[in-house]
Amino acid sequence: MRGMDVLDLERMPRSTIENILDTARTMEEVLDRPARKLPTLRGKNVTTLFFEPSTRTRSSFEAAAKILGADVTGFAPATSSLQKGEGLLDTARTLEAMGADCLVVRHRTAGVPRFLADRLGTPVVNAGDGMHEHPTQGLLDLYTILRAKGRIEGLRVAIVGDVEHSRVARSDIHGLLSLGAQVRLAGPATLLPPAFPKWMAADRPAKVGVATLDHALEGADAVIVLRLQRERQAGARIPSPEEYAACWGLTRERLRLAKPDVIFLHPMPMNRGLEVESGVADGPSSQVFRQVRHGVAVRMSVLYLILAGGEP
Ligand code: NCD
Repeated sequence: MRGMDVLDLERMPRSTIENILDTARTMEEVLDRPARKLPTLRGKNVTTLFFEPSTRTRSSFEAAAKILGADVTGFAPATSSLQKGEGLLDTARTLEAMGADCLVVRHRTAGVPRFLADRLGTPVVNAGDGMHEHPTQGLLDLYTILRAKGRIEGLRVAIVGDVEHSRVARSDIHGLLSLGAQVRLAGPATLLPPAFPKWMAADRPAKVGVATLDHALEGADAVIVLRLQRERQAGARIPSPEEYAACWGLTRERLRLAKPDVIFLHPMPMNRGLEVESGVADGPSSQVFRQVRHGVAVRMSVLYLILAGGEP
């Protein structure tokens, strides 16, 4: 994997996904040590380039890089020459010339990480591009399910809510299908991608489909609830937040339709009382803070494999 770009899970081979998840297990053990610092990536520079707000993803990449001994440069577009009209590519080339060994990029426009990856020698990691993908979030969701259930193959996973605007959902769906899970999507018709059946079920129709909420939850091993992305909705897609909560909000009662040992995941930030009630978010099935921790392990794994190429 050395030098590889991590842009999406749609095209990532299953063996690469498995390699990242295996390596993340070793990285998670490092997180448990009293002294959490390795010399593995000493002398390497990881540069983060975030054009959109982020709490977890950015700090998680930074923590991962630092634990592995790398230096971190945080580039803040709001105070940079981008404000003077400097182009994206010139900015990225400048950071490359300054010694970035890896660029972690988040942008509101789909395709920006690939655009840069095609033009730079430095490996690019997509930290979320528009409504396209968020591959490391997908990987940490897979890792969380794997740690809780011991496998992914054959599991039933429900993905609920605002699928259309969710790059997390896209990465989750590709990753889950690649590892052999069954995926059921549920949400208001106005928040499901219109071309969904053609969009990704073409070669795997038995493994993924749209369902009612009850049907998606029935017998589910894992439920991933998505944030209602109000900032990405130009027109009104839902009658009111109250109506959305009543029809699609995950409650403890609804969760009873799932398997007794179901786990609940959410990429955060959560709109409590809207897409999920606090009883579920803070309940025994909730993995949300484990996801955050796993995010560090998975990003350590990705950075390690890209920058050290699997050398011990
Ligand atoms: C997500 C994102 O930004 O795509 N958050 C995250 O990275 N944890 C999901 C979201 O904003 O709803």
